[in-house]
Amino acid sequence: MAEIIDGKAFAEGLRNRVAQAAGAFSDKIGRKAGLAVVLVGEDPASQIYVRSKREKTVEAGMESFHHELPASTSQAELIALVERLNADDAVDGILVQVPLPDQIDEKVVTNTINPAKDVDGFTFINVGKLAAGEQGMVPCTPLGCLMLLKDRLGELSGLDAVVIGRSNIVGKPMAQLLLRESCTVTIAHSRTRNLPDVVRRADILVAAVGRPEMVKGDWLKPGATVIDVGMNRIPREDGKTRLVGDVEFATAAQVAGAITPVPGGVGPMTIAVLLRNCLVAAHARAGLPPPVDL
Ligand code: GUN
Repeated sequence: MAEIIDGKAFAEGLRNRVAQAAGAFSDKIGRKAGLAVVLVGEDPASQIYVRSKREKTVEAGMESFHHELPASTSQAELIALVERLNADDAVDGILVQVPLPDQIDEKVVTNTINPAKDVDGFTFINVGKLAAGEQGMVPCTPLGCLMLLKDRLGELSGLDAVVIGRSNIVGKPMAQLLLRESCTVTIAHSRTRNLPDVVRRADILVAAVGRPEMVKGDWLKPGATVIDVGMNRIPREDGKTRLVGDVEFATAAQVAGAITPVPGGVGPMTIAVLLRNCLVAAHARAGLPPPVDL
């Protein structure tokens, strides 16, 4: 039976370390590190994420600036807000929740964010820095996955890693991070042939496709470390819904060496890393060395 990787506990530990460093930051600088979160429209899932981000920001002793705009907001109005936040010295990190309404071009808005405040790592500057192996802001979910992998495995050099999914938010940056750790990286996706055979090579599997329970236990190399980024709501018999990952947990746990559960695996890491990224940004903006141990 696989070891269960407790992302919830790891995330709590990281948030506690962030809170300590955030306290030291405000003692030294005379203001709290600040995170601005922008939500456009009323997508219920986004509303839940954003509320949770705000609560955890405050709990960590950081300032939360919350901006909620109607779904009818124009691109020009949203860009004007981002530019105000770029210019606001109390704001260290800016997050514009995606998806955005159809009339707004996500790429244009994202790339308006000052790369030094881009706590999502979504601007082309930060995407390019990650690809070029330079220091920059790294997207929260893949960085959280990497932290769990290093905590479990230590050195990753030389390991075979397979990432299923090629999104800009998870798959591609995850592959870049694993490459930076000297893994042999394969990016698989919906057009990949013989996916089970590809997955069977993996010492490390990161599943980020958004297909409920797609990866089965008999696809895995025995002892593999499995990171399940999937968050799929599927209907239950009683009419409610159940959250499942991209990996069929019951069969995978029989074969894997270690596996993240859903919920309680990768999910809680995203916000913890967001707070970490914001505090790192705050230190850089204040001319301080990066906080240790984050
Ligand atoms: N929507 C879902 N996940 C994310 C995320 O990590 N950042 C932003 N900005 N929007 C999201």
